Amino acid sequence: MSSNAGKLLDDINNLKAEIETNIKTAKEESSLEEIRLSALGKKGKLTSILKGLASLSPEEKSEIGKAANELKSYVENELSAKKESFEELYYEKLAKDEWYDVTVFPPRFPEGFLCSKERGRIHPISITQNRLEEIFTSMGFSILDGPQVETDFHNFGALNFTDDHPAREMQDTFYTEQNHLLRTHTSAVQARGLKSLKPPMRIIVPGRVFRYEEVDASHEHTFYQMEGMIIDKEVSVSHLLFLMHTLLDEIFKRKVEIRLRPGYFPFVEPGFELDMRCLVCGGDGCPVCKKTGWVEVLPCGLVHPNVIKTGGLDPEKWQGAAFGLGLNRLVMMEHGIEDIRYFQNTNMSFLTQFN
Ligand code: DAH
Repeated sequence: MSSNAGKLLDDINNLKAEIETNIKTAKEESSLEEIRLSALGKKGKLTSILKGLASLSPEEKSEIGKAANELKSYVENELSAKKESFEELYYEKLAKDEWYDVTVFPPRFPEGFLCSKERGRIHPISITQNRLEEIFTSMGFSILDGPQVETDFHNFGALNFTDDHPAREMQDTFYTEQNHLLRTHTSAVQARGLKSLKPPMRIIVPGRVFRYEEVDASHEHTFYQMEGMIIDKEVSVSHLLFLMHTLLDEIFKRKVEIRLRPGYFPFVEPGFELDMRCLVCGGDGCPVCKKTGWVEVLPCGLVHPNVIKTGGLDPEKWQGAAFGLGLNRLVMMEHGIEDIRYFQNTNMSFLTQFN
């Protein structure tokens, strides 16, 4: 072997030793790619060593070439083994530092882990919603869900709001660029229920709704409702009243006095506003009932024949009753909460009072 060839072989062996040390001492995964490039990359050390090949005989070339290829595959193997060991270390560390055990109470966390050790709590609106769901499912109602980003059809059109209906004004909302809207009420699920279920049917639809509102102590842009609807052969206002009584007595755990007033909603005929005697002042008058002794909690009515028809049923055969419960307001009455904004903020001293 010529001295040139001997030198190239030495260079290759030295490079191998150098790379070996670099890989062994690498501290993080990202430096492995640097090691690979500086050794095997286009501008790397091996490339410059191999520039010396030009002056060699064909036999020497093939011998050095072979050594160079061996180096390449050696380096690739070492790098991938090292990469795996980094991954193993990563998961070992993760298992050591970031575990927590939720099967015991209070949950156990590793030393120094920044996490509240307090038990999670259920939001007051969810507590009341869960109770309402229990009451209604025990009376044979199904719970339906619907999208919060709705079509104009489901939110308005199917509920007998014509395109230029003035009642749309009272429920201004947020529109998307694709002409969808954030639903203004859970009544939007009525048409979905009518289309997808077979009559007779009893449904409730708890959920989040949105309005374009000036936010203050009694108005929020995001709040919760629970829609209820029954469809059957003969449905009357007395069915509706029975449901409303049951609902309020169960929620407040006492006989609640109610009164009906006429109310207008395009999707019911007749439509009512149902008020309950203010529980905060017992009817004497206070800020919650605006000094009237009554609080508006349950708009309701008999489902308009147009709604039944649009839902695909024959209004000559099927009748319905519906109500739209404002969950926030109900929970405010239940607990004497004076400001609706408490529900949406993250004030723990408010949120931790309910369970
Ligand atoms: N969707 C109405 C609103 O949010 C409330 C409502 C009124 C629902 C009458 C009903 C109803 O089902 O019959 O203002």
